[in-house]
Amino acid sequence: MQKKSSLISSVFHHLYLFPSKISKVYKEVYLLSRLRNNSTRFHKAAVAFMLSIVFLSMNAQAQKLINIETAHNAVVLQVNDSNYVGMIYFGPKLSNAMEYANIPAMYKRGDDYSGILNSAYTPAGSSNLVEPAIAVTHADGNTSLDLRYVSHTTKQQAPDIALTSIVLRDPVYAVEVTLYYKTYFKDDIIEQWCMIKQKEKSNIILHKFASANLYLTANSYWLKQYHGDWAKEMRPEEAQLTHGIKVLDTKLGTRADLYQPPSFMVSFDKAATEDEGKVMLGSLEWSGNFRIDLEVDPLNNLRLIAGINNFASDYSLKPSEEFVTPAFLYTFSDKGKGDASRKMQHWARENRIVNGTGSRLTLLNNWESTFFDFDETKLATLIKDAKKLDVDLFLLDDGWFGNQYPRNNDHAGLGDWQENRKKLPSGIGYLVKEAQQDGVKFGIWVEPEMVNPFSNLYHTHTDWVIKQPARPEHLYRNQLVLDLSNPKVQDFVFGVLDTLFTKNPNLAYIKWDCNAVIYNAYSAYLPKQSHLYIDYVRGLYKVLERVRAKYPKVPMMLCSGGGGRVDYGALKYFTEFWPSDNTDPLERIFIQWEYSYFYPAIASANHVTDWGKQPIKYRTDVAMMGKLGFDIVVSKLSETDLQFCQQAVATYKLFSDIVWHGNQYRLVSPWDNDIAAVMYVADDKSDAIVFNYLVNNRYGAGSLSPVRLKGLDASKKYSVKEINLYPGTKSTLDGTKEYSGDYLMTIGVNPDVNARRSSVILDVKEVK
Ligand code: GLA
Repeated sequence: MQKKSSLISSVFHHLYLFPSKISKVYKEVYLLSRLRNNSTRFHKAAVAFMLSIVFLSMNAQAQKLINIETAHNAVVLQVNDSNYVGMIYFGPKLSNAMEYANIPAMYKRGDDYSGILNSAYTPAGSSNLVEPAIAVTHADGNTSLDLRYVSHTTKQQAPDIALTSIVLRDPVYAVEVTLYYKTYFKDDIIEQWCMIKQKEKSNIILHKFASANLYLTANSYWLKQYHGDWAKEMRPEEAQLTHGIKVLDTKLGTRADLYQPPSFMVSFDKAATEDEGKVMLGSLEWSGNFRIDLEVDPLNNLRLIAGINNFASDYSLKPSEEFVTPAFLYTFSDKGKGDASRKMQHWARENRIVNGTGSRLTLLNNWESTFFDFDETKLATLIKDAKKLDVDLFLLDDGWFGNQYPRNNDHAGLGDWQENRKKLPSGIGYLVKEAQQDGVKFGIWVEPEMVNPFSNLYHTHTDWVIKQPARPEHLYRNQLVLDLSNPKVQDFVFGVLDTLFTKNPNLAYIKWDCNAVIYNAYSAYLPKQSHLYIDYVRGLYKVLERVRAKYPKVPMMLCSGGGGRVDYGALKYFTEFWPSDNTDPLERIFIQWEYSYFYPAIASANHVTDWGKQPIKYRTDVAMMGKLGFDIVVSKLSETDLQFCQQAVATYKLFSDIVWHGNQYRLVSPWDNDIAAVMYVADDKSDAIVFNYLVNNRYGAGSLSPVRLKGLDASKKYSVKEINLYPGTKSTLDGTKEYSGDYLMTIGVNPDVNARRSSVILDVKEVK
């Protein structure tokens, strides 16, 4: 009986096999019929069964390919004879989907000894010979894992959004992985993640748990990656990948992107340019430790494995518990980096950042002008200055809190979120009212995940602080990180925001900072220390969920001592991010240029400050390529500088919609030219803004030839006028001329950038 039922289940197991296996199935049916004594009735049943197998096998043949398509691209997966799911294609989609079936043989450029080199999710410990996507220790101590196809479905979640889920299961151990591919059709975006589940007798340990495992084919691969540090964000490097594994990662815990962000690009066959070449843009949606493995394998294919960093993060998974990874986000274009980045920017505005299709508040911030040195009277004057500039909001930065340990410098006070009675005797409420009377909104800085040892919080809740119990503390900017894996700490952090809003319902903006990394990773709360890095981020997201559930609309800036935390996991909760504390406009041209490949201008908070040697016009023009703010002493501006700033705010309000919601074209790169030029074009191509800057101060440097515009309508007529001129200056350009879009995109226009005109903004308007 035992033998018979296993035989039946074996036959059923073959339902998904290929026709080539049908003879084997036949043999099993035949054997089964012999076991049943050759009765005629059983013969008939066997024939019917065979026929249904043939039918189902044909069906299975149709099911062998799993096509995940967007407007222009496709990811194609194949379920092979052994029920392994492999990735056989990623690139421009074919007009006839049936033809994907011809692909697999094309990319087998040598022997694959494991048979799973192209696995859609490579398990460790069975036949795999390369970097795995998942590695586990089972409840019984065994370390092998094998994942076979069980089923898949595709569901349309919205007219533009579909979700394909593929269930994989280990035939021996009760471990199941579901791979998810969420497509955003028109933007050619895919979010890929997975869910790991087990039903063993007790906990299993996850040693690696990637979000995505891609298999890509080209003759060569060119990685553009980024590195940096405080005030040096987004420094690019591009090089050909060689055989072996290149790892992009971070182990900093919080402020995770300080050295390296989770965004990168891979070009295929040659380094793509702005408008040419095949390129993939990728980014992990996770605000903690990440790890991206890029392995050029023995067959010259590229294995890309992206996910949470498994460094010091073995995760113990209970029976029936679901471990859901963050998503790896990617897009592809065969028309260069510019096209790929516009897809990502558009996706982010429509689908990810808070109020991405709405507007943003211009503001005056007091950080650079006062640092910690202010009081109520000074702030009331600054609020009036905000009005003078006619910006929308005044943002009170660090230094407003702490009494027993006043926040008069960065050594004390973090954690004690009560107004400092000496500086603000009448409280925040008074300032909010003052602002209201002056017709400006009021916003505030917080850094609620952190604590100074000089604080009440530290003394009352030392167990809330991440630090090793038996080792000396190691501080970063004189502070430590609170243990957000602890629900009580989550309540506290939520409470910081909730109290501020409850007491001041008119509070209109939050700058959420995060200045320290995690040293001495240890949680007094967690029973398993290796969960800390992961549960910290999950705790942070739980808090942000609660904040957004209660305050869905309030604008919030994601800041981390500059750009130490810029990722699409966090940006789900924020309207904008702070790219860098480095606001020297020359530096910013480069920093903003690189961020813009991944993030839309509407999310880039850019402030005019006193950093750098450039004139106020240059500084303002650069800050206008995003969300404009000021962080200067307005009272110290000369009369004409003030007049310029006032005019600039008014001018910005006229064109900001194009910068925020238009299509961005990088025209001239600052990396290899005397000038930089960046253009934003309205969707209907009736209006565009072109920013041009001198980025080289050598003698004679400037725009020696015309800048060719992009994204216009060739058949439309346009005027090109210089705007945002400094008071008393005249444009050297003839704004009365008319040009066809064709002319502007083929020949271009010279913005006449030189040492005397180091920053030039052009308004390109359709002439009707
Ligand atoms: C970080 C931020 C700055 C400022 C300071 C305040 O460095 O990036 O903009 O808010 O903190 O301490």
